Amino acid sequence: MITQAASAPSPSIRKVSAERFAANLTPAAERTPEQVWLAAFADDLIAELQAADTIVIASPIYNFGPPAVLKAWADLVARAGTTFQYTASGPEGLLKGKKAYIAIASGGMPMGSDYDFMSRWLTFFLGFLGITDVEIIAADGIMGAGGEEKIAAAKDAALKIAA
Ligand SMILES: Cc1cc2nc3c(=O)[nH]c(=O)nc-3n(C[C@H](O)[C@H](O)[C@H](O)COP(=O)(O)O)c2cc1C
Repeated sequence: MITQAASAPSPSIRKVSAERFAANLTPAAERTPEQVWLAAFADDLIAELQAADTIVIASPIYNFGPPAVLKAWADLVARAGTTFQYTASGPEGLLKGKKAYIAIASGGMPMGSDYDFMSRWLTFFLGFLGITDVEIIAADGIMGAGGEEKIAAAKDAALKIAA
């Protein structure tokens, strides 16, 4: 599954709002016509996730964490009762049996460092949805010394996985 979230058409993932979040939380049969429209984009993103066996997310790190568009995607696909549920023993992810590959690029910071909140957050978030089989392809520190080699190594790693 590859979602081109950053270039998504309108209604855009870029415009996550309290209204859309409320629409997402309203059961489908109870939504107003406006809420149906507001929730439709999230419905599509969730359906895409549910249908996928393999999920590929490629993203840069912005200010130690995810770019706003990736955070917006997460806010839209995390829907209680659909992609996760609350149980007596805590939340349970409902998207099980999937494999995720996440390719993360950073200008300078090393993946897994104390100030890398991106890979930790994304791995945790996917696990929250039940996607616990996550493999990271790191293209970190690509703006520093040896950047071109790091990009080439990440491409090689991705091509090996795809083969
Ligand atoms: C707004 C912004 C914030 C960024 N913040 C970080 C950061 O916190 N740490 C880091 O190592 N790189 C940071 N970068 C560099 C990006 O991670 C880097 O440009 C990206 O991974 C490479 O993709 P690109 O070739 O599309 O720019 C930032 C870049 C932008 C534009």
